Amino acid sequence: MLKRKGDPALDVYLDNAATTPALPEVASAVADALVRRFGNPSSLHRWGIAADAAVGEARRAIADALGAGPDEVVFTSGGTESNNLAVGGLAAARRRAGRRAVTTAIEHSSLLGALDALDGWEIVRLPVDGAGLVAPQAVAEAAAGAALVAIGHVNNEVGTVQPLAAIGAAIRRLDPRPAFHVDAVQSFGKVPLRPREWGVDTCALSAHKIHGPKGVGALWVRRGIRLLPQLHGGDQQGGLRPGTENVPGIAGFGAAVRLLAADPEAPGRMAALRERLWAAISPVAVRNGPPPEAAAPHILNVHVPGLPAEVLLHALEERGVACSAGSACLSRRPEPSHVLLALGMPEAAVKSSIRLSLSRLTTAEEIDAAGAAIVEAVGALRRLVRR
Ligand SMILES: Cc1ncc(COP(=O)(O)O)c(C=O)c1O
Repeated sequence: MLKRKGDPALDVYLDNAATTPALPEVASAVADALVRRFGNPSSLHRWGIAADAAVGEARRAIADALGAGPDEVVFTSGGTESNNLAVGGLAAARRRAGRRAVTTAIEHSSLLGALDALDGWEIVRLPVDGAGLVAPQAVAEAAAGAALVAIGHVNNEVGTVQPLAAIGAAIRRLDPRPAFHVDAVQSFGKVPLRPREWGVDTCALSAHKIHGPKGVGALWVRRGIRLLPQLHGGDQQGGLRPGTENVPGIAGFGAAVRLLAADPEAPGRMAALRERLWAAISPVAVRNGPPPEAAAPHILNVHVPGLPAEVLLHALEERGVACSAGSACLSRRPEPSHVLLALGMPEAAVKSSIRLSLSRLTTAEEIDAAGAAIVEAVGALRRLVRR
């Protein structure tokens, strides 16, 4: 992988919550769509029909993975657009239902940003506990009389899995009217996802977190749910998301989803490797966020008391281990993580926190090498500080 002269011997990528490498089958599907099935899916000739078929195959793969119908899948440019389409589109369709939306304090910037962009709306950001969990009853009480609830399934920084089935049931018990949007970008392929059964109305997905291409995602929209388009133009995708479909990206997304289905053991494998990594680094680190049983299998967030995250990240980079201090989307902002602060962590611990994230390609050898490198780096930095 990407070696340059003078690079360290190790090469361990543990930033898979930021993005994952595309699998070879995905790259082939993308290339095939670019070169062979290159038509415009709206065209009526056979090139158009072939491209439309590629889009249809991907739509079916995604619908199958969600236990949904293909007509309920809208392709977008990624998780960010899916969250914006859902929040903006549902809000525009429900303006008369009361301009209040409910979310949690630990959401991804693309969800919080879409909510904050709603002009004249009250946005209720519910607190979470030390594990990152929001109480279903609290969501339901805040949602009663509101137009919209928008919650992430798996938190991208600490891996907390929200109890969506309980949240959906609690909301509906108090008030059947609010629309319920879920950001499933970090959960798809990692934990069971059954939006239809859980009373969810719209659900955002992104291809590049599951070894698909970047710049392509989907929004599942429950049949019968009305939302207004956020882009204006042609009639593609029922007018809900106009613009010529990104056929290569969509074909790659479909291939990635089919490969997910072919590896059902992956979440268990990732969870075991994450615990192996934790066992290796626990003498020098403190675990942040949820206990392992309440966390998605691919994320481990820790802090090393007294060591600023950027110093540790730099030392790890020098040793050939890539990870991050949190959300890649906010990595250029100096403020401490809003997620870790909302979990009640002291600011000093937040500033010493790093996120290690695995994929289903991560191996035990890589985990052992990364674990040893982290322990060694912390020891070396501590000796430097003491001098
Ligand atoms: C929870 C969550 N939602 C949304 C997104 C945005 O997805 P995309 O990068 O496809 O725009 C991300 C990506 O980091 C994410 O982790």
